[in-house]
Amino acid sequence: MSFRAIRVTKDDQGHRVETVTLEESELHEGDVTVAVDYSTVNYKDGLALADKGIVRTYPLVPGIDFAGTVESSTHASFAPGDKVVLNGYGVGERHDGGFAQKARVSGDWLVPLPEGLTTRQAAAIGTAGYTAMLSVLALEDAGLTPASGDVLVTGAAGGVGSVAVALLARLGYRVLASTGRPAEAGYLRELGAAEIIDRAELSEPGRPLGKERWAGAVDSVGSHTLVNVLAGTRYGGTVTSCGLAQGLDLPGTVMPFILRGVTLAGIDSVQAPMERRIRAYDRLARDLDLASLERMTTVVGLDEVPSVAERILAGQVRGRTVVDVNA
Ligand SMILES: NC(=O)c1ccc[n+]([C@@H]2O[C@H](COP(=O)([O-])OP(=O)(O)OC[C@H]3O[C@@H](n4cnc5c(N)ncnc54)[C@H](OP(=O)(O)O)[C@@H]3O)[C@@H](O)[C@H]2O)c1
Repeated sequence: MSFRAIRVTKDDQGHRVETVTLEESELHEGDVTVAVDYSTVNYKDGLALADKGIVRTYPLVPGIDFAGTVESSTHASFAPGDKVVLNGYGVGERHDGGFAQKARVSGDWLVPLPEGLTTRQAAAIGTAGYTAMLSVLALEDAGLTPASGDVLVTGAAGGVGSVAVALLARLGYRVLASTGRPAEAGYLRELGAAEIIDRAELSEPGRPLGKERWAGAVDSVGSHTLVNVLAGTRYGGTVTSCGLAQGLDLPGTVMPFILRGVTLAGIDSVQAPMERRIRAYDRLARDLDLASLERMTTVVGLDEVPSVAERILAGQVRGRTVVDVNA
């Protein structure tokens, strides 16, 4: 049975993003075929559709994540009817991804949908939200508790940021939300932010060490912002780094590390081991307020993906965008 998909092609005529009709046999090989319910638009999908070095093979169905129902499987762990979620593993980069009504992937990459979440909610969480949870787990593993002090979230109105604010607030932390969109202050307070910080305070070159303002931070912005976040972290605090929305450089000094014992924890969602993924999803099912998740979610159809992808790179998308591939 044929199905709809977005496909990126690069050939003599250049780089193109098209909506096409495909047969299952045209997808990359895998031992599980999934009827996709929802995919999502992440920052990396924006980069993939804009030909910014993410796509490794052409033609390719982009989309780095999806949630859906197993249609057929020769993998020992999955059977038809199982609800599953996929994030990363090179899907949407070098293996056909989620912007399609069908996906064929390795069962080793699939996470069973945790109890208590629908496929729509799992997609609303998406790679951005799962990465926010990996960041929170890293802070907890470093010993951070609500009693340690305030926690800062940068890029707060974006996907990783919105889920991080909601999670940390629900866990009892006092959350400082840094945003370049003052109009989203009300939205961020609804998600649980106690204080809003203008991102301009953090985005310019600063001093090697500043006033100790937060005990921990979740950063998805990089560059000067991350350097200033480190410089404002309290003695013994931990900062997680997962993103590069401002830039991939790190133009700072070692002072926060050697004078304040600050830890910089790297977060990778793409190759994270399966046991950490399952831990993250279990915690998301338990600790993420579903009303907050709904508040940060916008649903679009496949045809709207290219325009959302452009807007996410411009920093204009709020929260999470779910793609209803069957709309
Ligand atoms: N390591 C991993 O495995 C992993 C996984 C997921 C995401 N990521 C990365 O994390 C980042 C965020 O992803 P996302 O899906 O949450 O994207 P997003 O929804 O676009 O959020 C990024 C946010 O960063 C802020 N921002 C944008 N441009 C900025 C600039 N020039 N200076 C300062 N802040 C800026 C904006 O927040 P405000 O408007 O609130 O300021 C924006 O909403 C991306 O770089 C993505 O590639 C990495």
